[in-house]
Amino acid sequence: MADLKKRLLTGERPTGKLHLGHYVGTIQNRVKLHKDYECFFIIADLHMLTTKNTKEDIQKTAENARYLVLDNLSSGLDPDFATFYLQSSIPEVCEMNTLFQNLVTVPRLERIPSLKDMARAAGKSEMPYGLLGYPVLQTADILCVKGELVPVGKDNAAHVEVSREIAKRFNHLYGEVFPIPDVLVGDVPSLVGTDGQAKMSKSLDNAIYLSDDEKTVDKKVMSMFTDPNRVRADVPGQVEGNPVFIYHDIFNPDKREVEDLKSRYKAGKVGDVEVKQKLSKALNDFLYPMRERRNRFENEKGYIDELIYEGTKKVRKEVQKTLYEMRKSMGFVSTWRSIERKATDRAKSRNDADNSVSSNTTQS
Ligand code: TRP
Repeated sequence: MADLKKRLLTGERPTGKLHLGHYVGTIQNRVKLHKDYECFFIIADLHMLTTKNTKEDIQKTAENARYLVLDNLSSGLDPDFATFYLQSSIPEVCEMNTLFQNLVTVPRLERIPSLKDMARAAGKSEMPYGLLGYPVLQTADILCVKGELVPVGKDNAAHVEVSREIAKRFNHLYGEVFPIPDVLVGDVPSLVGTDGQAKMSKSLDNAIYLSDDEKTVDKKVMSMFTDPNRVRADVPGQVEGNPVFIYHDIFNPDKREVEDLKSRYKAGKVGDVEVKQKLSKALNDFLYPMRERRNRFENEKGYIDELIYEGTKKVRKEVQKTLYEMRKSMGFVSTWRSIERKATDRAKSRNDADNSVSSNTTQS
């Protein structure tokens, strides 16, 4: 009975392909958990507008949405246990956003560092209103299906904290409508980039994508940043903080090999090339089943679109139910009913009067 399962909601903006950082930050968790929950995966194209809102950006949405779903399915999400949906096709979410907006203050939102980072990264000198409200819209996403678990990357944890506050505030003011959603951050909250920069990211061009082929992975690994002080293979090297070893630790299941490489590296007894070749092999082994699944799904024409289409219709019905419940507990339903009642009463009495006038006329 699907209904007895708790609900999980997460997703991303359709801005491009997913990389290893996404995988360890959140995808891994959703793959692990998704069969135990009733799962919703949002393609957050309205959130995309907070930093990318040209017509060209929006025109890429359909293609990027397909990429996203494909990346998720390739990672191991079973489509029978996952509902994907397109945020912009569920306008009720925007109404919820409006209803939530007054349950949080501007200073509270201004204290969230990720929003400032996003504004800066998008080259904005001033904070757009919509970007400041990013966590509020995200709250609407989570609560519109009464999500209870939200597995996200580290940056998003602060947003879900806002969602918890808004849900509590709503329930306190208007009655118990929403569960208080829990956040779940991945094992590796932030994965270093191939260039040694703190974070793997598309804009820094330091990412290995889940969809990269074998050759691309080899090439990216070979040009990875290592210990900059190690000019030759016989110079002892630093393992801590070295991206090549960070990746080995995460992605190479052969722990003996990793320990051996580490001790030889520290002793100046192994070249970078060997360390990298072994890493490349480990990463390609890790990505291999994903490539197989991707091929399989890609070969079924229209399949991904059908998932998004049917998923969106299904979620919209769910959201309409939740919105009605919200409107009812806030009092909008009775406001409208009261107006409707008086208006129909008046129409009715006018009708009655008209009828009696016309019957009088026919009588005389
Ligand atoms: N903020 C997420 C991202 O960084 C996307 C998103 C939008 C989301 N709404 C959500 C994630 C609700 C989890 C729950 O791309």
